[in-house]
Parts: sequence; C-alpha cells; structure tokens
Amino acid sequence: MAYDFDSVIERAATASTKWVLYGPEVLPFWVADMDFKAPPGLLAAVEQRLSHGILGYTQPPPALEDAFVAWLLDRFGWSVSRDWLVWLPGVVPGLNLAGRAVGAPGQSLLVPVPVYHPFLSVPANAGKQAIFVDLVREGGRWIMDIDRLEAAVRPTTCALLLCSPQNPTGRAYDRGELETLVDFCLRHDLTLVSDEIHCGLLLDSTASHVPTATLNPELRSISLFSPNKAYNIPGLGLGVAVIPDPALRDAFENADPGLVAEISPLAFAAASWAYTDRSDWLAAVTAYLAQNRDLLEETVGMLDGVEMTHVQATYLGWLDVRTLGLEDANSHFVRFGIGLSDGEQFGAPGFQRFNFGCPRVTLEQGLSRLAEAVRNA
Ligand SMILES: Cc1ncc(COP(=O)(O)O)c(C=O)c1O
Repeated sequence: MAYDFDSVIERAATASTKWVLYGPEVLPFWVADMDFKAPPGLLAAVEQRLSHGILGYTQPPPALEDAFVAWLLDRFGWSVSRDWLVWLPGVVPGLNLAGRAVGAPGQSLLVPVPVYHPFLSVPANAGKQAIFVDLVREGGRWIMDIDRLEAAVRPTTCALLLCSPQNPTGRAYDRGELETLVDFCLRHDLTLVSDEIHCGLLLDSTASHVPTATLNPELRSISLFSPNKAYNIPGLGLGVAVIPDPALRDAFENADPGLVAEISPLAFAAASWAYTDRSDWLAAVTAYLAQNRDLLEETVGMLDGVEMTHVQATYLGWLDVRTLGLEDANSHFVRFGIGLSDGEQFGAPGFQRFNFGCPRVTLEQGLSRLAEAVRNA
C-alpha cells in the first residue's frame, strides 16, 4: 500500500509540543515525534475502542500481552513469560522506577553520554550518584569505550543505563559491542537497564537490533519497549518493562510511591494493533526516513564547520557544530528559523540534535535554513 508522508499537516492548532515551542516563524526539528499520521489500521483500532464510549481504568488486555510476547519471539527470538512484563504509561517512568529498583540509596549508576536527557536525572531522582562516561567517536561512529567504563566503574556502582538504539547519536549497536558490554556488567555485578524504544526504527538493511537482555541469561536486566516512536504515537503514552528476575521485578513494581499514572485504554488499543501489525507501514516510513537521512547527511557533508556521523536508526541526526565557535548555537539557529535540540541537555554542549521525521518539503526548507545559518555563523 502507498502511504502519504509528503503532505504537510498543520499541527500548531493541536497544541503540538513540537510546533508551539519556537512559534510560527521557526520550523521545528527538535522533540522526538514525527510529522506523519500514524498507520490507518492503528487509528482505526483507536477509533473502534473510542466508539465503545466508556473509557474507564483498564488492565493490560491479555491479547496485548500475548501479542507482545509473540512479537519478541518473532522479531528477536526472545522467549519471555507474561509474568515478566510490567506495563507503564511511558518509558521515562520506567527508567526512573528502574533507577530506584536497583541497588541501594547512595550507590552509583553508570550513564554513557550523550544520551536522551531524562537519563541524566535518573540517578539523582533515585537518590544515587551519577557516573557519566563519554561515548567516543571512532571510525565515523559513536561507540561505548569499555576501557573508559572500566576506569569509571566503582565498587558502589549497581547498574548501567543503556540507550539502544542510541538517542541522540543514531547508533544501532552491533551484537559484538553489546556482548562486550554485557560481559562488563557481569564482571562488575551491574544490572543493565536497557531503553530500546527506538528498536523499530532501523534505517539501514545492514543494521539490526539485538535486545541486550538476550545476550546472556545470567545478566540481571530491565528492558524497556514501546510502540510509540516507531508508530508515531508518543502522545498516547505507553511502555512495557521486561524483567526476568522476580526479585528485581518486585522491587521495580514497589518503587512507585503513587507517581505513575494509569495507562489509557486508547494506548492499549494502539499497542494491541502495533504488536500484531502485519502491514507495510513501518517498512514504508523507515524507507522514507532513510531518504531524509541521506539528504541531511549530504547537506551537512557540504557545510564547513558541521559534522555528523551516519544515522543507522532513529530519525535523529547528531550535529557537531563546535568549530562554528558560536556562543549559543541553538539561539543562532532559531534566528535563522530552525528549531533544534541543544546538545547541552544531552550532556554534550556544542552539539545540536536534528529530527528529520518530517515531510521532504519541510526538511528541504529546514536544510536551506541550516545552510544559511552556518554560512552566517
Ligand atoms: C530513548 C528514549 N527513551 C524514552 C523516550 C520517551 O519515552 P516516553 O514518552 O514513553 O516516556 C524517548 C523519546 O524521545 C527516547 O528517545
């Protein structure tokens, strides 16, 4: 089936976070949602649930649990039990519950950076120390340097927070890298908290997603998934944690003092559709995103003073603009009508994150503004 990703759909009138922050003069390429409609089948599933007319408190539907278990097995060969699942109204609450569930107050968490900004506050939110360890750019890609992690880990460290595929760098870690990381965690008795929300958004046929927890059954792990990024329904709110270890799962479930909201029945309806999706929508949207990615990389390749590495997954480009020497790069780009995410919030001043999940015509306009802003830096 052919899908229309080219049409520009007005969003500001829906109070879209992405479209209101910078105002009408600025094209937004920041927060991680896409300017595309969700798949028609998913929208129909939500409408059908809505038409029931009663939107009461709702349990995870058993059919959804079965669908998610079957999806993990089918996609990744991962056999999990329904008992291992904890459903959530989002992945960020899951990260924070994980931060509380591991170790004891005062212990420390390893966090490779740059990373999606809510990771940075997980340790403090959980009364734990943060140990931030820089990713390294090597051979045109961002990697986790095990020597750096070895140098940073302390006897008090109880967990590592992983983002895979990686936001903001767009890396899809390969099996070998993840195996090395899992060995590191086992050597230091660390729980691995793995946010895999972007796993549906692979842009290269050579990239694959390996759920980290599958690499060694000895690993104590909390893996977080959600259909919301791939199917572009982040405003609906839903996540699911997979926690094989019963004691860790108990600790995770008991870590919420009443801060975590109920899950919307509409989100359950959407997720039930997503985890049984047999349509070609995801293949179509990732093919479109790959072309957008190519255009972004080509444009950036021609700009003096901006560098980026190849984006294998996500719809996020990580731009290194340090050599432009701008005091406040984000405001500079805004002056030229382009709203990016400032790298500082991801732990990396001097970088800007570019969300290319938009119609081609919007991207082209944004890229010409980007080029203009760079020429005038
Ligand atoms: C790595 C990562 N985790 C979590 C989230 C947000 O998850 P949620 O909206 O389900 O809390 C995002 C959104 O951009 C993300 O990139």
